[in-house]
Amino acid sequence: MLKQEPEDGQASLADPNFRADVLAGLAATPRAIPARWFYDRRGSELFEAITALPEYYPTRTEAALLESIGPELGALAARNAAVVEFGSGSSAKTPILLRAIRPAAYVPIDISGDFLRQSARALSADFPSLPVYPVEADFLRPLPLPGEVASLPKLGFFPGSTVGNMNAYHAVDLLRAMREWLGEGARLLIGMDRVKSPDVLIPAYDDAQGVTAAFNLNLLERINRELSGTIPVAAFRHRAIWNADAARIEMHLEAQGDVEFTVDGRPFAMMAADTIHTENSHKYGPNGARMLLRAGGWTPVREWSDPQDWFALILCEAKPLRRAP
Ligand code: AVJ
Repeated sequence: MLKQEPEDGQASLADPNFRADVLAGLAATPRAIPARWFYDRRGSELFEAITALPEYYPTRTEAALLESIGPELGALAARNAAVVEFGSGSSAKTPILLRAIRPAAYVPIDISGDFLRQSARALSADFPSLPVYPVEADFLRPLPLPGEVASLPKLGFFPGSTVGNMNAYHAVDLLRAMREWLGEGARLLIGMDRVKSPDVLIPAYDDAQGVTAAFNLNLLERINRELSGTIPVAAFRHRAIWNADAARIEMHLEAQGDVEFTVDGRPFAMMAADTIHTENSHKYGPNGARMLLRAGGWTPVREWSDPQDWFALILCEAKPLRRAP
């Protein structure tokens, strides 16, 4: 990530994929920029702060659930398993899982190499006898897993309802790619956020302290910093809406008046109330969750949720695929 955050703010050092996504996204109808670009250093810090907010229930609900099912997971998990975590980031949930199942190896996979190595080092300090094999990769492009874990049973771990950032089409692509990575017979423990009242969902994405607003608006600041943007950030406001048809929270940045700005020298104009769509966070009912997993090649074998049924952890298995009954 450091290479994307030059001290001198020179746009010439910006990630070319960031530039391409922003320029195309601002020119598109509707305007949209992929949520992955939230996570520069400041964005990652703001996300950590979100996970501690009173309104943001997912992180603490999932962590408590994981803690409570630990003994059961320990009994279900294969002996000598290799835990493979997708998009490991700085996950605080990993130690809970590792203590519960005592695996033979841990393979964190993340697209951000610096962050990956930093969290792998921190984890090794807490679990000195656990072999850790970090893999820097985009997990939509399967690579062979490290040779050291080739013969071990695999348990994939994909917490946080991160799958919810994708629509069903892309989520299925990702789940199938994970099946390729882990192989037939592997298991996957995935966290999926439940559909629930907008009275709970909206404040979780539009908190009283304005941390989520700052997280969303930081994307504009990042564009100004890294892509020589002239976006008047103060003219934008954070919006979180519940799209009931698509069963998702959407985050937008809404222009409060007519604005004109340039990014990397290119001119853009927005009218009052126009938005830039910055994130989808899909929520799932029990049947929808299981159907999505099956479509991605994963058969649900056990599932748990908290007493309010706000968040689910689903254990699934890559069973051999059969065409006929
Ligand atoms: C990291 C994608 C799971 O959708 O809840 C939190 C990101 N965005 N608040 C989510 C997020 C606004 C989060 N995920």
